[in-house]
Amino acid sequence: MSGGAATDRDDTGGGAGGPAGRGPLAGRVAVVTGAGQGLGRAEALALAAAGASVIVNDLAESVADTAEEINASGGAALAMRGDIGDWEVGASLVQAAVDAFGGFHILVNNAGFIRDRMLFSLPEEDWDAVVRVHLRGHAGTSRAAMAYWRECSKAVGGPVEASVVNTTSESFLLAPPGQPNYAAAKAGVTALTLSTAQGAARYGVRANAVAPRARTAMTSATFRPAPAEGPDPFAPEHVATVVTWLASPASAPITGQVLITYSTHIGVLARPRVEAVYTASGDTWTADELSKTFGAEARAGAHNGYAVPPAELRLNGP
Ligand SMILES: NC(=O)c1ccc[n+]([C@@H]2O[C@H](COP(=O)([O-])OP(=O)(O)OC[C@H]3O[C@@H](n4cnc5c(N)ncnc54)[C@H](O)[C@@H]3O)[C@@H](O)[C@H]2O)c1
Repeated sequence: MSGGAATDRDDTGGGAGGPAGRGPLAGRVAVVTGAGQGLGRAEALALAAAGASVIVNDLAESVADTAEEINASGGAALAMRGDIGDWEVGASLVQAAVDAFGGFHILVNNAGFIRDRMLFSLPEEDWDAVVRVHLRGHAGTSRAAMAYWRECSKAVGGPVEASVVNTTSESFLLAPPGQPNYAAAKAGVTALTLSTAQGAARYGVRANAVAPRARTAMTSATFRPAPAEGPDPFAPEHVATVVTWLASPASAPITGQVLITYSTHIGVLARPRVEAVYTASGDTWTADELSKTFGAEARAGAHNGYAVPPAELRLNGP
């Protein structure tokens, strides 16, 4: 761990800098979950390269390598192994940030895994495990972070400058038949992000989500191999740059956004809207009137349903 001065606008505690305490995030302290490999590792490295001190969490031992890599390059990182579905682990990460680096400003929720099965053959434990790691995992750290920042805000009598970046997935929109557990968990993560953004604004805390596309262990069968030459559109580093920007004061006051993120693109999701309204002619609906109004028009193709066809999530990229 390297030392470093707190910045003059540091109202959420002090903090050691990253490489020699330089960069846009010098004096900021971040927690990144699932940082042992893949996107979380790339995000931790990017935050450290921008000057943040980082608590890196993962279940896997490889999280120690991420911390070592950051420290070896002149940054400041501490590895904390633990199951993010356990709320005590989430709380311990926030506490470790404060204890080790003197403050806490950035939460990147990323840890997770998939257990894809059709709904009719989905074991109960695979439902619980996937909802637990993503939704409960995001919620435990977020709760601890918000409790800390609320106290900081009360102490200084005004807003603090802090940021949450959550990791959702386009799966929550596409709702693939083989991912009922994952799609539902990521829908929950999206809603949690929006609730956090609304509840946190008064304390000066922002919350946004990325829906990444990256070649990692999780998606090794999804994306084609990296090109032999030239930039790799599915390199996790593209996502890490966007996450680092969302985490930094440079992106203020942006909050409540959900961004599909990969390569050189970000796709900004629009809010859902009410497409049509039907009103019963009497005091309440009858089945017959539902059939003749909404039912007739939906059967005739007037409404496409809530699920998003993949073509509508195509960005102008590779
Ligand atoms: N790669 C993509 O294209 C893509 C697309 C959409 C969403 N995502 C999301 O991005 C995040 C990162 O995925 P990735 O692609 O880097 O996968 P990955 O498998 O490479 O990395 C996930 C990391 O999370 C860790 N982890 C798993 N369970 C944990 C737990 N209980 N506690 C702590 N750490 C745990 C794993 O050990 C691993 O290091 C996930 O939330 C995933 O759902 C990824």
